[in-house]
Amino acid sequence: MKVILTGDRPTGRLHVGHYVGSLRRRVELQNSGAFDQIFIMIADTQALTDHFEQPEQVRHNVLEVALDYLAVGLDPARSTLFIQSEVPALPELGLYYMNLVSVARLERNPTVKTEIKQKDFGSSLPVGFFTYPISQAADITAFHASTVPAGEDQAPMVEQTREIVHRFNSIYGETLTEPDILLPETKAAMRLPGLDGGAKMSKSLGNCIYLADDADTIRQKVMSMFTDPGHLRVADPGKVEGNPVFTYLDAFSTPEHFAAFWPDYPDLAALKAHYQRGGLGDMKVKRFLNEVLQSILRPIRERREELAKDPAYVWEVLRQGSAVAREEADHTLQQVRQAMKLDYFTD
Ligand code: TRP
Repeated sequence: MKVILTGDRPTGRLHVGHYVGSLRRRVELQNSGAFDQIFIMIADTQALTDHFEQPEQVRHNVLEVALDYLAVGLDPARSTLFIQSEVPALPELGLYYMNLVSVARLERNPTVKTEIKQKDFGSSLPVGFFTYPISQAADITAFHASTVPAGEDQAPMVEQTREIVHRFNSIYGETLTEPDILLPETKAAMRLPGLDGGAKMSKSLGNCIYLADDADTIRQKVMSMFTDPGHLRVADPGKVEGNPVFTYLDAFSTPEHFAAFWPDYPDLAALKAHYQRGGLGDMKVKRFLNEVLQSILRPIRERREELAKDPAYVWEVLRQGSAVAREEADHTLQQVRQAMKLDYFTD
């Protein structure tokens, strides 16, 4: 069986970093027909691990993320879209896995380590936050996922899940499925920088283009992007490495975009060569990037606006998806309880 499980924390609207880093790929995988089952989870329980004082915000963003999913082309007829907290088997699985993971191992998880530093918890680090990699192992294994399409920052979570699976299967017998991460194809897609060239596009840094942004907002954001600070005059040679405008073009532009919007160049390699030689102004490159992004984001925004008029439909998709997910995860939980000799009253 080839099964996908992946998801997002509903802490805000999704942005173009999510799009190139994972949403675009999910839709391709969905449409490839190569998977038996696809589960896409809105991780509200995980969002609460660092937003437990903002329940309204998390709830509101469940709908926003669902709108983003449907707008990019995830299709409820082919992918099960569900809400994490609607699947009670997940925390129960997590509880059993907690025995299999040491505090020292969690402390070594590089993603958790970085987040703990960023959030500056000090001695008030919540247990729930510290242990979220274990609940993530429950999310993945509950569906016997073979494949987790996700960004690089999720690699330590999938690695930790694999260790839990090994440990569980060696103690209680072959029960759980070991997952593999499926990373984005290119470096640009792996980690899209912020508009300011910062390491990552992130809501808290205010350096994002959102899938829901209107055309004017997108244009203004593109025009204000950082470029090569050494490229002062048009005639000067410019750098493309570390220049966010070119990283975005790496992630988004295709030869078809050149044919449609800038036929002076056959492809990005030719454009880069000119920029590096000198004689090409940043404004022109930004105007092209704007055309590319507008052409990709316009249909997504229009679908999103249509769907947003009917929230009842979106909630119904999530309700039905959650029922499917609950049944699937309950089945895995029965297997786990049986393996752990906790199946007292089943015959
Ligand atoms: N950690 C993911 C994020 O920050 C969300 C998530 C929760 C997830 N459980 C998962 C991703 C399982 C992949 C697989 O967005």
